[in-house]
Amino acid sequence: MSAQLTWLGHASWQLKTTQHTLLIDPFLDDSPTAPIKSRDAYADFILVSHGHFDHIADAAKIANRTGATVISNYEITTWLTKNHGVKNTLGGNLGGGANLPFGRLKFTLAFHSSALPDGSNGGNPCGFLISLTGGPKIYFACDTALFSDMALTGAVGLDAAVLPIGDLFTMGPEDALEAVKLLKPKKVIPSHYNTWPPITQDANKWAERVRAETKAEPIVLAPGEAVSV
Ligand code: NI
Ligand code: MN
Repeated sequence: MSAQLTWLGHASWQLKTTQHTLLIDPFLDDSPTAPIKSRDAYADFILVSHGHFDHIADAAKIANRTGATVISNYEITTWLTKNHGVKNTLGGNLGGGANLPFGRLKFTLAFHSSALPDGSNGGNPCGFLISLTGGPKIYFACDTALFSDMALTGAVGLDAAVLPIGDLFTMGPEDALEAVKLLKPKKVIPSHYNTWPPITQDANKWAERVRAETKAEPIVLAPGEAVSV
């Protein structure tokens, strides 16, 4: 079973299986590059990697309309329930995982920060390793620096990795290339770039280097485009 991965601009992704729709870090209504608005988004699970507005902005809105379960660290799920009335949540923490209707999800390390929009403590930022039942293993690094323990995540045998390349707030293209070498995914898809001028990058140029220096297949999408993983 394969899954459809659609870029919703910035670091927002939709992962669709035959039975489930996951949204990762939905930031749509105020994103200059999102192809849809939050009112048009559907999910039964919403994953939030950390508390920054460009990842959490539309999570509560979509969850409250669709009844989706929000999965994040415990500090963030508690904040969403207390401040935004989100009913269905699953709060975890780094290194932990859960068996869910779509497969197994693990909270992976991310080197970043996580303050919530109102200044509340957003716990520790994370990435996600998603092993779809009978399907691909996909790693979303989310907002992070490069770190060598990415090799441990890669050791599971990744079908796809979604990596930030924007620089300034996350890994830039050089470090993301090193991340591909550690993770050894079959496919790699760049994220968190070209939203605003400070994170403008030439993703096609990066993809050429990935092709030349690694065995991974780089997939450069435009917002709204999808790839089968
Ligand atoms: Ni961030
Ligand atoms: Mn970000």
